[in-house]
Amino acid sequence: MVAISVVFGALVMVALVTGCGDAVERISVDTPAVTPLSIPPLLEPTIENGVAHYDLTIGTSHHDYQQGSPTETYSYNGMSVLGPTLRLKTGDSVAINVTNALDQITTTHWHGADVPAEDDGGPLSPIEPGTTWVADFDVIQPAATLWYHPHLHGFTAEHVYRGSAGMIIVDDGNPAGTLLPRTYGVDDIPVIIQDRDFTEDGQFDFAINRGPLGKRDGVLTVNGTINPFVETPAGPVRLRLLNGSQARIYQLGIEGATMMKIASDGGYLASPVILERIVLGPGDRAEIIVDVGGAPAALVDSAFGRVLELRPTGLASTVGPLPETLTAIERISGSEITVDRSFHMDQVGNGWGFNGLQLDMSRIDETMRLGDTERWTLTAEAGQHVFHVHQTQFQILAINGEPPPPEEAGWEDSVLVNANREVVIASRFNTYADNNMPYMYHCHLLDHEELGMMGQFLVVE
Ligand code: C2O
Ligand code: CU
Ligand code: CU
Repeated sequence: MVAISVVFGALVMVALVTGCGDAVERISVDTPAVTPLSIPPLLEPTIENGVAHYDLTIGTSHHDYQQGSPTETYSYNGMSVLGPTLRLKTGDSVAINVTNALDQITTTHWHGADVPAEDDGGPLSPIEPGTTWVADFDVIQPAATLWYHPHLHGFTAEHVYRGSAGMIIVDDGNPAGTLLPRTYGVDDIPVIIQDRDFTEDGQFDFAINRGPLGKRDGVLTVNGTINPFVETPAGPVRLRLLNGSQARIYQLGIEGATMMKIASDGGYLASPVILERIVLGPGDRAEIIVDVGGAPAALVDSAFGRVLELRPTGLASTVGPLPETLTAIERISGSEITVDRSFHMDQVGNGWGFNGLQLDMSRIDETMRLGDTERWTLTAEAGQHVFHVHQTQFQILAINGEPPPPEEAGWEDSVLVNANREVVIASRFNTYADNNMPYMYHCHLLDHEELGMMGQFLVVE
């Protein structure tokens, strides 16, 4: 439970809103934010023999959440919380060294990346304390916003909650990309949204919630900052929204300016879509363009009020007219489909599962053949879920029998599913195969994942 306290300074109104049994500290858009948004630094690679090498070290740290005493955190590269942003380029060969400086096993997974199973960093790639694991792969996918986070089964939720996660930006040679805001931290802003609760002594109040909605907390953080503002040029500003929360689903919008969605999980939409509201489940990303005018605008959420204040500095934007077309998305057609499967998400035993089964790491649940195009029907009984699949980006063919709206007609690796939202997706398995090492699919409400809602699939030759 979150105490009512004016932790943001006297000017900020903090109201307690109660609904569905959860209480949040709501921030009014009428009061200026007081803390500058923290921007994770870009991680510079070293280039050797044409391979871009990146070094990540996960360890303990602490961060000032203004809770009276510093909060103990896990982070990458000694940051107070979270990790540096990796900026990869399509066509590059990369080697990412992940060193574990924690006193317990963990892993690091590249969420949304199309990589071989042995480089995926899922639960089957444990990193022992004091050792280094290397993921080396070619970047074969188009420009997108991805992220990385620990993925050790039984500890994913906790390791992420304690602060270890970071953003990955993939750039490519798409000419439309050069017409978009793309100066990191200036007009291209990472926005990692996470809700947290704190104990009385200022520490993370981590738990696993067995309920249908998972653990939802009362304090909102953006890149680890509470009630932040960011200074921007006047003109188009790109926000890379990443929901890195344990279970909370946000309903985001912009006050004081218009919002255009330009990219979903796996990259650009065919063209920008003007929207009032974006629903972002845990694990989801969306890139938006906000046309900031002379006065502050705000990223807002239906429960929390203001998420981030966008404060124009008067500096002119260097970005010209935005492109009307972003990329070509070749829709997967019914005639391409070679295999059908269905995944039903529901309570199983004391936890959660797919098709009546909880995760069993000694069982392979599904086997795909390299070159096949599959159609999956996703349904749910109780609860809210985000179906996430590793390795592949899929297209949504239908939501409740209807074709998806344009903002959901791009590439996705995570999609909301509940009893009122049946989703049919399609995916081409045409990149990597490994006859022994599986990938995971799971609910990205991390409580559900930890409580069994995960399965393993092989892509075989
Ligand atoms: Cu965010 Cu299995 O991943
Ligand atoms: Cu993933
Ligand atoms: Cu779920």
